[in-house]
Amino acid sequence: MTAEIISGKELAQELRENMKHEAKALNQAGVSPHLTVILVGNNPASRSYVSGKQKASKEIGIESEVIELPETVSEDALLDQIVKLNTNQRVHGILVQLPLPDHIDEQKVIEAIDPAKDVDGFHPISIGKMMIGEDTFLPCTPYGIVTMLKSKQIPIAGQHVVVIGRSNIVGKPVGQLLLNEHATVTYCHSKTKNLKDITKQADILIVAVGREHFINGDYIKQGAAVIDVGVNRTAAGKLTGDVDFDSAKEIASYITPVPGGVGPMTITMLLQNTIQAAKESIKQ
Ligand code: GUN
Repeated sequence: MTAEIISGKELAQELRENMKHEAKALNQAGVSPHLTVILVGNNPASRSYVSGKQKASKEIGIESEVIELPETVSEDALLDQIVKLNTNQRVHGILVQLPLPDHIDEQKVIEAIDPAKDVDGFHPISIGKMMIGEDTFLPCTPYGIVTMLKSKQIPIAGQHVVVIGRSNIVGKPVGQLLLNEHATVTYCHSKTKNLKDITKQADILIVAVGREHFINGDYIKQGAAVIDVGVNRTAAGKLTGDVDFDSAKEIASYITPVPGGVGPMTITMLLQNTIQAAKESIKQ
């Protein structure tokens, strides 16, 4: 039996239809949900991600503005810009596209964002709240992954989740979110010994290492759900994941494709967080 494909593209479309109504209702209440993205420099991948975010925002009725700053911008000038956005009542969500140039302290920049506008969910306050299970903005990729699993009613409580990768953006928070859902979570990374022995125990395997086809069917337990967070370019320029889809789909029960899997969900959860931020701004 081949695995059922979890289409992030289709689920994202469904969720965005719903968000259109939420954005419209907010507009009718006199609040235009507004996302400001700061893009520093000319990294082509970052530029492409930012234009994707902008396009998706517009489609569902979120105002989106991009502030472009040169590669040479000083850390102070960037921090000043964030302070202005923090106090601008029209702005509900602030996202600084990462990575930043080497002369800028990324963590300092993240911490300058008002947690009430932290739609990326990267601020230590957001992460801390997530750790203890309080309501907060969840980081978009992990939030998208959990939403995908739930959309297929894939059991989480009591299941063994194995996460490969320990980045602050994906690996660490996705494990934490699934722990909050009562999974048993194991983290693997570049220093892990006997990787295959561990991945073969996973009921849900999440792969976020950034290496083309790092995992194949030999690493997967029969019937597992496999979530591929990788976005890699092959030598021929094709977009591909961290999982060898063709061999994995023969073993897994569910699998996410690349492209059309986790990627569209990440943007969707950013839109969701922005709508949430706009809603909260009325409550305050
Ligand atoms: N760079 C790669 N992924 C992300 C993301 O989710 N948010 C931001 N701000 N930068 C990124």
